[in-house]
Amino acid sequence: MSIIVSAPGKLVLLGEHAVVHGQPCLVTSVSQRLYLHAVPIESPELIVEAPQLHVSVYRKPLAELGEGAVPKAMAFIEHAVRRVCFERPHIGVHIRTHSEFSAQYGFGSSSAAAVCAVAAMQQLYGNPLDLNRVFETAYGTVRDVQKTGSGVDIAAATYGGTLVYEAGGRRLEPIAFPLAELIVGYSGVKADTVTILNEVADRARRYPDVLSSIYALMGQLVRRYVDDAATLSIAEVGELMNLNQGLLEALDVSSTRLSAMVHAARAAGAYGAKLSGAGRGDCMLALAANRSRADVEEAITTAGGEVPAVRLGVEGVRTEASHPAFV
Ligand code: MEV
Repeated sequence: MSIIVSAPGKLVLLGEHAVVHGQPCLVTSVSQRLYLHAVPIESPELIVEAPQLHVSVYRKPLAELGEGAVPKAMAFIEHAVRRVCFERPHIGVHIRTHSEFSAQYGFGSSSAAAVCAVAAMQQLYGNPLDLNRVFETAYGTVRDVQKTGSGVDIAAATYGGTLVYEAGGRRLEPIAFPLAELIVGYSGVKADTVTILNEVADRARRYPDVLSSIYALMGQLVRRYVDDAATLSIAEVGELMNLNQGLLEALDVSSTRLSAMVHAARAAGAYGAKLSGAGRGDCMLALAANRSRADVEEAITTAGGEVPAVRLGVEGVRTEASHPAFV
């Protein structure tokens, strides 16, 4: 018996960082998926082959998962398996992964891998795919590994679509967003979410009132979107994105390249533009009418970005009949 599952990446539309501090955010899933193939094995150990993560073969006894040095690339899969393998401590698992997207983009490949590992193990143990349990377990995995984080990547990888989200899944509701008008720009720089979260946390210790006011403002603009989604014009949605970018600049999580891409997109006719995710690198988003799309894409490229072809708001974790990477 073997199981293949896949889960999408994510992009935060509004409210990143503030979501770690209790505010709502908006997130959407990205068409590039992470695929994971799992086979039960007789020896009680975890074996992982993840060539795109530069892991040719990684093995560890189930009883030792989470102990000792855990390589960064393996941490999410190892902790995810640790959280579920107690159900069948004598059955090992051999996992292979294949990613349609580079870990560079910041689409959340580690979170997608954790979601896939939990979803695959659930089914290997003869249980039906239970999205709420997948979310809870994979969110626990993020907390095990990072000690921080809202779980927004896990929510997008698990449930897919576009969601209003609050940390830990306190709020998880589908919502409409003008996804067809969004353009994604990749900055060419890999950002390390935990490093940035720790820097922001350090600033929050020195200026607690200032940072909590910034988070509250971000929460207000997300709520404004959620409350008025049906009546906001596309230009107003763009304005909310610009306000959000201003607050992210205030947190000092943008970068020269990201800000240049954002301003170039606006100058080329975008209604609004902002970075997406932790910042300092990864991706930005621009909202533009169809007639301005080519100009905005060119402006982003000229400012040093790359415009990957993606579809947004796609299905969350699912079981696959087969995948060419695993024949
Ligand atoms: C990263 O994708 C989004 C952040 O808000 C971190 C998190 O929510 O865990 C920066």
